[in-house]
Amino acid sequence: MAIEYANRIKRLPAYIFARLDELKKEKEKTGAEVISFGVGDPDLPAPEKVIKKLHEASLKPKSNRYPSYAGMPELREAISQWYEARFNVSLNPQTEVLVLCGSKEGLAHIPQAFINEGDGVLVPSPGYPVYNTATIMSGGVSISVPQREEKKFLPDFEIIDRRLMDKAKMLFLNFPCNPTSKVVDVNYFEDVLDLSQKRELIVCHDNAYSEIYYDQKRPPSILQAQKAKEAHVVEFHSLSKTFNMAGFRVGFVVGNKKIIEALAKVKTNIDSGVYNPIQEAAIVALSQCWKECDEFREIYQKRRDYFCAELKKLKIEFNIPEASFYVWAKVPKGFSSESFSEYLIKEAGVMVTPGTGFGQEGQGFVRFALTIELDKISLGLEKIAKVLK
Ligand SMILES: Cc1ncc(COP(=O)(O)O)c(C=O)c1O
Repeated sequence: MAIEYANRIKRLPAYIFARLDELKKEKEKTGAEVISFGVGDPDLPAPEKVIKKLHEASLKPKSNRYPSYAGMPELREAISQWYEARFNVSLNPQTEVLVLCGSKEGLAHIPQAFINEGDGVLVPSPGYPVYNTATIMSGGVSISVPQREEKKFLPDFEIIDRRLMDKAKMLFLNFPCNPTSKVVDVNYFEDVLDLSQKRELIVCHDNAYSEIYYDQKRPPSILQAQKAKEAHVVEFHSLSKTFNMAGFRVGFVVGNKKIIEALAKVKTNIDSGVYNPIQEAAIVALSQCWKECDEFREIYQKRRDYFCAELKKLKIEFNIPEASFYVWAKVPKGFSSESFSEYLIKEAGVMVTPGTGFGQEGQGFVRFALTIELDKISLGLEKIAKVLK
């Protein structure tokens, strides 16, 4: 008997990275080194204090027990203190903070709490793919919100068909944005919350890159907006990028307590929380690692400055990112996102992510992730320069 996949799985978009992985392997078989600007997986180490705490805590006899569903009270307290210190936003740690098994987990589960079959979810394109796939898995309808260059990479709500807009119940937003690296100010968030109140939308803002910023310009939280306290809004954060803790799988969501409560209800039926020693390590990161974050930022700043100066010389068009470790660059004339990415792997031995991996509106672009050391960045650029001549 054949095994039949569920419709929700069949409806998921094709995994476009599979073809690139294949090409990468083929290239490596020839003995060539492939320099990868592909994945946004921080290469820097997690702070030493964090690792030490993880180790110490793992030795406690009780660490093997199930953790609490919502997260340790001490971690929720540390999150609310971090928010106060970083964004000047007060949160009730008991009701307005929820610990996640990485922010991706929370983003993937939140439509389950609110979206019924056929409800619309506004999904930025290009955007982090989980917003779209989570919508599909919940039975919702993904309504693509273009973030085009001609609109300064901001979501263009005007262009969306009215009937589709009327279906929308939820909106995903992400600034600093993966992949465009666009940053907005608090006034922009005020406008979005205006729209969400008029249209009764639940706003899910993904602030995974709030701490990877340049030239001392700190990106805001949507919860700094005046309307945030009465709005239906939550904000997701990740320790993966801020503290190089991607493998730890710990993140959090904060904001409207009704939304937090509903997501917690979904989660208690699916996962059983984050390993306590990881939560203890997260407390150390949030409360004691501000200096380390400054150091990480300096490293990214050097990479960004160097990479952008060199990429300019190659006559590739792009905006210098104000935040995130991504550079969103236009492909040269005559190429599509896919053909340029394939060309770079095959000819130069350099891997980049095709813009269409983030939605159809990513066509014409590729994304460079600056999560490799400067000497590799330099080598990658040299290889690209050779094949573009
Ligand atoms: C925009 C965005 N949000 C969320 C995540 C997921 O982060 P986490 O490791 O916390 O699940 C990523 C990871 O790349 C991301 O780019």
